[in-house]
Amino acid sequence: MRTLDIKGVNGDSRILVGEKLERLGSYLPVQRPVVITDTTVEGLYGDKFPNCDLIKISTGEKIKNLDTVRYIYDQLVDHEADRSTFIVGIGGGIVCDIAGFVASTYMRGLRFGFVSSTLLAQVDASVGGKNGVNFHGYKNMIGTFNQPEFVICDMDLLKTLPKREVLCGLAEIAKHAFIGDASMCDYLERNFERALDLDEEAIGKLVYDSVVIKSGVVNMDEREKGERKKLNFGHTFGHAIEKTTDAFLHGEAISVGMVVASQLSVTKTLLLPSDFERIKELLVKLDLPTTLRADKDMMVDAIKKDKKRVGDDIDFVLLEGIGKAVIRKISVKELEEAVSDL
Ligand code: GLY
Repeated sequence: MRTLDIKGVNGDSRILVGEKLERLGSYLPVQRPVVITDTTVEGLYGDKFPNCDLIKISTGEKIKNLDTVRYIYDQLVDHEADRSTFIVGIGGGIVCDIAGFVASTYMRGLRFGFVSSTLLAQVDASVGGKNGVNFHGYKNMIGTFNQPEFVICDMDLLKTLPKREVLCGLAEIAKHAFIGDASMCDYLERNFERALDLDEEAIGKLVYDSVVIKSGVVNMDEREKGERKKLNFGHTFGHAIEKTTDAFLHGEAISVGMVVASQLSVTKTLLLPSDFERIKELLVKLDLPTTLRADKDMMVDAIKKDKKRVGDDIDFVLLEGIGKAVIRKISVKELEEAVSDL
């Protein structure tokens, strides 16, 4: 097991890469934890949970809303949760985002930690203290910055993941390589088959290297004033794609979004065409989509409604090379043109 630390404004977080769900009890600081999980994770791993109150939610992006938050608040009241209660979210990104939000707001904030059960949550969603839910069709519109005290990344839990979920995690791993670590990109190119097979050594290294990049960025800029925006590489187009079609999971949409953002980086003469080809080829090797058929008007509309837009511009993440992201203001018009070229 290897650990990484994040220093947050409201508290610190320790990421435990390679720790096991079975050892969760040794990280619980109080006698009365409440576990929040989803029906799938409970069915697969419930026998390994600590003996405590359990709140189960359903699965899928559609439940990431204030109705689910309200349901959990009701359950916490029923369980007589108080300020001494410790919340543990056990699950993927949706469980962690919701559990972190509930813990940050119930009774003005309870202590909390996560066990992340998906590759995407281990390398991105559960790390960095962003908690929240979608609102009126906008992703993560209501939320908090608040660090979980610990995040357990147990590789054993990945063995039951559907293939598409593994690919979504690999998309975020590739994102970390593209924005911050060229040697990770080399490693992925050489070891993509081992990554796809969830080979223990390869996936352990990739999760750890991803968390190194992410925790380094969050330590510099927890509240996303500047540096942290780089983690949104591929996400402006990716979120627009997710809004426009149900056919893509988050990581798949981000994969296409990264291709469009890389293409735009070439157009702006920041990125070499040969590096653009490398990026696309790596995503193809990782079985991720690089193009899509989309309703362009709907995508443009979604980009116009992006919550990161300020006036006519969006702080957009481009690449100056593999492993080197930069943030530039791009006009909505330029992004519209990039959509037309899709
Ligand atoms: N997933 C992007 C971030 O945590 O900032």
